[in-house]
Amino acid sequence: PWFSQIVLQLNDFDEFTSSNADAVLRSIAEDLRHSLPPDAMLNSEHLAHQKLHEQTKPTVHIDAFLYDDDCIDLLCEEGKMSRNYCLTCGSHQTAPLEFISHSFSLTELKFLYQHVLPDLTGKVVVDVGSRLGAVLFGAFFYSSASQICGVEMNADFCQLQEAIIAKYRLDERIKVLNADIRTQASLLQNADVVVMNNVFEYFLDGSEQARSWKFISQNVRKKGSLLVTVPSLEESLSELKVDIQFNQWVETVPLCYDVFLEEDVDTKALEQIYLYKVL
Ligand SMILES: C[S@@+](CC[C@H](N)C(=O)[O-])C[C@H]1O[C@@H](n2cnc3c(N)ncnc32)[C@H](O)[C@@H]1O
Repeated sequence: PWFSQIVLQLNDFDEFTSSNADAVLRSIAEDLRHSLPPDAMLNSEHLAHQKLHEQTKPTVHIDAFLYDDDCIDLLCEEGKMSRNYCLTCGSHQTAPLEFISHSFSLTELKFLYQHVLPDLTGKVVVDVGSRLGAVLFGAFFYSSASQICGVEMNADFCQLQEAIIAKYRLDERIKVLNADIRTQASLLQNADVVVMNNVFEYFLDGSEQARSWKFISQNVRKKGSLLVTVPSLEESLSELKVDIQFNQWVETVPLCYDVFLEEDVDTKALEQIYLYKVL
């Protein structure tokens, strides 16, 4: 019985620290919401705005780190947002809008660090295109990674990340670089985990995307290091003119997507997360 009591207490402790981390991450999201427009896009993102207008289906940007489903419901109730668009103006015929998120949600971050990745004690994590810093903050609170580095080409987003790092005192383990990832060969060569969540598709034109992927495949080469992508490498590269033999570069690590037993989990979003091990 004393043993089960200790186990129980340890479980309670885990639960306590995890919900504490959730609370800090929610507070960070709230701070960021106050510093950004509702679509969490910046005027400096010219190409992203242009690409949004080129979408064939009406699409809205909703940042999943900043707005969870309850938040979106509230905004819809207040008439500040809609999940649907009108097919015939003035009628009740509506269709669901396409949603694009440019950040991982809290659930995706927990899935990534608590179920997908191994123990990261002493490891180097690099987030390619760190934007609001969700992946970095997730690594800080949900993993023991010792160096967490974000590379973001947009200077305004780097400033936002820096402000959060300073306010929450995260600078011992998190660094942000305002740079194009294609200037960061040695950082990629030293990384144990490289995260790439929809990095290039909405932000670079086709030929730049192809060049960026080539650079990634030439520099993420440390044997046994892990690459996390959304969507899969196959899908990311399918439309691009780039000759990367990815089965000679990495092997797919199968993931179990139903380990995550919280209610209302969007398993479709989790199923977009892929893990690869460098050969
Ligand atoms: C979809 S966001 C990913 C956000 C974050 N990693 C997450 O998962 O929450 C992609 C970001 O990558 C940045 N980006 C795109 N191409 C880049 C490049 N070549 N070098 C650095 N950042 C880049 C964009 O500015 C954008 O903010």
